[in-house]
Amino acid sequence: MKVRKAVIPAAGLGTRMLPATKTVPKEMLPLVDKPVLQYIIEEAVESGIEDILIVTNRAKSAMDDYFDYFPELEHRLCRSGREEQAHQLRAVADMANFFYVRQRETRGLGHAIARARHFVGDEPFAVLLGDDIMMSKTPVLKQLIDAAEKYNCSCVGGQAVSDEALPAYCTTDLTHVEGRVYDVHHIVEKPKPEEVMSNFAILGRYVLTPDIFDILDATPPGRNGEIQLTDGLAELCHRERMVYVDFEGRRFDTGNLTGFLEATMEFALRHHETGAWLREYIKEKAKDL
Ligand code: G1P
Repeated sequence: MKVRKAVIPAAGLGTRMLPATKTVPKEMLPLVDKPVLQYIIEEAVESGIEDILIVTNRAKSAMDDYFDYFPELEHRLCRSGREEQAHQLRAVADMANFFYVRQRETRGLGHAIARARHFVGDEPFAVLLGDDIMMSKTPVLKQLIDAAEKYNCSCVGGQAVSDEALPAYCTTDLTHVEGRVYDVHHIVEKPKPEEVMSNFAILGRYVLTPDIFDILDATPPGRNGEIQLTDGLAELCHRERMVYVDFEGRRFDTGNLTGFLEATMEFALRHHETGAWLREYIKEKAKDL
């Protein structure tokens, strides 16, 4: 099994980050000096992905503009001696082969992934959710791809979350295989207390076989009246092997205000231009608190 393609669903309305996301896609909000989406794409590329499909909608053309050339701006930068910056802008557009498809109706994550059928064809593919930003030594998607290739099956990635947080995610029924790898027997989206099987939630990273598409097409609306990817995954893991990787790394939920601010601080503390300054600023500020 070789995983070369990735799908990034980015057609949500961003209602948890209003008013900022009324006209700016939440995936384009800057985390220090790059949009959130660029971190996701860098993780995919560092994991060996070559072709990337972004599932978008009619209000989000800023995303395809960002991963395109901008000759006028590049010429202007070159004329003023900023060739290095012009080169960096071009390198972003050259990171991968980008494709776009519009989800014409907002009918849920499963429905968004189902739009990728023609792009994916009959290969296994990765899914990266745009809200989940990772900070890790080995890219999180690479950890999943390694497991998917080793066990020759679908693979989902996550970590244990607290009892209080779990209802916002999903719960999994797992048995240990080796190291950080488990077999998946069942998954329930946004579990009620009596449905909790474990605290291991799936956190935004998946490697799936194309068998998911027939399943998604037949999946009825689930939680919130939306077609849920998780419901499709529950069916997929009943039909064929699926493993779970308890991935190494720190995950930030940039889809809500505190998660976004947490990620901003952590990335700013590690950024060569802002790290030292922010450390000093926090120390000074802490004296007044
Ligand atoms: C989605 C998935 C859920 C997953 C979560 C975090 O939920 O449906 O299973 O645990 O992302 O990656 P959402 O954040 O869209 O409510």
